[in-house]
Amino acid sequence: MTPKTTLIAAALALTLSACGGNNPPATDTTVTPPATEPAPAEPAPPSTMPAPAATATMPAPAGTTAMPAATTPAGGEKPAAVVSDCATTIEGNDAIQYNVGSITVPATCAKFTITLKHVGKMPVAAMGHNVVISKAADVQGIAADGMKAGASAGYLPANDARVIAHTKMIGGGETTSVSFDTGKIKDGGPYEFFCSFAGHVATMKGTISVS
Ligand code: CO
Repeated sequence: MTPKTTLIAAALALTLSACGGNNPPATDTTVTPPATEPAPAEPAPPSTMPAPAATATMPAPAGTTAMPAATTPAGGEKPAAVVSDCATTIEGNDAIQYNVGSITVPATCAKFTITLKHVGKMPVAAMGHNVVISKAADVQGIAADGMKAGASAGYLPANDARVIAHTKMIGGGETTSVSFDTGKIKDGGPYEFFCSFAGHVATMKGTISVS
């Protein structure tokens, strides 16, 4: 009795699991439970079968492309840059990320230097990084115009007054730096730093201020 019931249950499960396709409803004619057995009482209509769609929205685990982008605020949850001697060194990686979310420039510094170290391995053409400083309100416009300017222009519009300071665009293993007068970002903020490589501004962005 018990093995037979198991077989029937298995057959029923197979029948149910096959639903959702073009098969006509077959449960009424093919399965006849024994009289002493209580009815399975699991109609499980095809229309209510859960669709295995959850995986479609999961982010790619590989660190090469799709990062969760749109909802990332400037700076996000990343740590503040370590500043000493009116300078800081920050990193960019192959996952389209800086390692810091904010830079606080000491008010005692007349000039400030940002060094960018690309700790990834990908070439500049595929994973270029720079540091551009502008008013927060200008970030998206500069990034859009930089994309139009293209790779040969380092993804920056030429002689753009909105650009307060910027490094060159570098690839994996390279380092670059830029120095600027801190007076340029003392008033009229907020200011941000970001990467102007095509599409990177969504995840490579942070705040910079004088304090
Ligand atoms: Co970049």
